[in-house]
Amino acid sequence: MIDTLNTRTAVVTGAAGGIGLGFTERFIAEGMRVVMAHIAEVALAREATRLESAGADVVGVLTDVRDPSSVAALRDQTLSAFGAVHVVCNNAGVAVAGSMAEATPADWRWVVDVNILGVAHGVSVFAPLLVEQGEGHIVNTASEAGLVTNDFIGVYCATKHAVVGLSESLWRELHPKGVGVSCLCPNLINTRIFESERNRDDGAGVRPEEAAMLAPLREAIEATGLPPSAAADAVVDAIGADRFWVFTHEFTPSLAEARIDDINAGRNPTDPYAALLGGAD
Ligand SMILES: NC(=O)c1ccc[n+]([C@@H]2O[C@H](COP(=O)([O-])OP(=O)(O)OC[C@H]3O[C@@H](n4cnc5c(N)ncnc54)[C@H](O)[C@@H]3O)[C@@H](O)[C@H]2O)c1
Repeated sequence: MIDTLNTRTAVVTGAAGGIGLGFTERFIAEGMRVVMAHIAEVALAREATRLESAGADVVGVLTDVRDPSSVAALRDQTLSAFGAVHVVCNNAGVAVAGSMAEATPADWRWVVDVNILGVAHGVSVFAPLLVEQGEGHIVNTASEAGLVTNDFIGVYCATKHAVVGLSESLWRELHPKGVGVSCLCPNLINTRIFESERNRDDGAGVRPEEAAMLAPLREAIEATGLPPSAAADAVVDAIGADRFWVFTHEFTPSLAEARIDDINAGRNPTDPYAALLGGAD
């Protein structure tokens, strides 16, 4: 928990683009200092310089969340720049699309490493600091795909369910110690998440089947995605209210409820979006 954001320090992973940049800009507007952790050097330098020139107190730290020593170095550089950390946003994430039958061990390795272990490393490195100071807030970016499931994005769904689960456990452990935890579960936000392959360094390209799945997702995110500032506004609100669940779309809880209804009824998984669109009872 934290009484004010003004003059405090935030660490944001994936900070130089998409939702992470939205967090960064909103935190700056709240009067915070921000440590921008990012894997892509050029984008990081560009965004950190732009914000700094506009008067923001930011530091860019090249970080690979898959690597625990890189995340430990991020903590050390944060402490040497600003002396403390109050809000930690474990936000970096990647997506692959396509059937699970076609997913390769390398697909699993990459998405699990970034989406689950990236968050886990942020927790291991920063939670002890926040507990020691008796205040602070951790925000883990999961997804609506962490509450419901869909076909052809199963690898991503699996990792986001893990982020929801670990975040709930973390809340139980940290909240009694004065540290808040929030779990952001966005629906579509207009970012480059469906161009995640740009951050993949194992030489695996996008398979034709995956490209075919990604094309409509890219169209949908561009046509209907909310701006990253919507996610940032929801997160700042949740930190202030010490609230765990953070949604960007008001229908998300009802989708989760539809899944629980299936479980309660002992039914096989139905399409969570069918009820929303009025296509099923
Ligand atoms: N955009 C959406 O509709 C949406 C919906 C639900 C959840 N999310 C989640 O939001 C988070 C942010 O994604 P986004 O939508 O802004 O997409 P994005 O692709 O714009 O941002 C993801 C960021 O993660 C960074 N990243 C990737 N691998 C990394 C690594 N190994 N180490 C450090 N940083 C790394 C990328 O550089 C990128 O800036 C992700 O966790 C994503 O799964 C997005």
